[in-house]
Amino acid sequence: MRRKLVVGNWKMNGSLASNASLLSGISEGLAGTTGSGAACAVCVPAPYLAQCQALLSGSQVGYGAQDVSCHAAGAFTGEVAASMLVDFACQYVIVGHSERRAMHAESSALVAKKALAALDAGLTPIACVGETLAEREAEQTYVVVRNQLEAVLALVGDRVAQIVVAYEPVWAIGTGKTATPEMAQEVHARLRAQIAEKNPVECSAVQILYGGSMKPDNAVELMAQPDIDGGLIGGAALKAADFLAIIRAGK
Ligand code: PGA
Repeated sequence: MRRKLVVGNWKMNGSLASNASLLSGISEGLAGTTGSGAACAVCVPAPYLAQCQALLSGSQVGYGAQDVSCHAAGAFTGEVAASMLVDFACQYVIVGHSERRAMHAESSALVAKKALAALDAGLTPIACVGETLAEREAEQTYVVVRNQLEAVLALVGDRVAQIVVAYEPVWAIGTGKTATPEMAQEVHARLRAQIAEKNPVECSAVQILYGGSMKPDNAVELMAQPDIDGGLIGGAALKAADFLAIIRAGK
């Protein structure tokens, strides 16, 4: 059985003061609940990784970043290397979020290189895939997500059990529109089958998260699907009570 994993994607939100209160709310809510509910982590803006390290070391709440450079070091102004994330004891890094693909023109080839850089540094990349509304309406969903995942699989090879995949339909992110559990399950099952083509043993260990307007009131149903192993949570991860309710939904 794969343990469920719920990851908060804070995006470009937070401050030292608001983070401290959100993280203490999450930690207090989890106190004494070891093992019930999903494993959890928060992916925060890079400047707050030191704060996470100070506040979360040894706690049940993992943490990580929202992006990473595919390069190891050098003249890449503004970029953050995987080794730097490791310096702050991160466990996770999101790669290929649709906001980065759309607003920063990240290609699937680049996303795959980022996933590999993360893996090589000992981090767990959370590799995001997902179709736009136009692609879904044109019945291109499976072609799009297959190509996005294929790029990552080609580079990570037989280390696939060390990555997390997140299916995030772009039309469901931050819109309040969620894929129905059946719609999401169908895509998740296809992604797992794709992983199984080259990795028939490891495929059953890979956690595939759903993201896109996951909230306390739909989390139970979504995570009850056989191939939905947790969530990547945006808006609802910014409120301790909502985030905790989603973690508890992932029994
Ligand atoms: P949302 O964001 O939960 O606010 O829809 C999810 C994400 O973008 O990871």
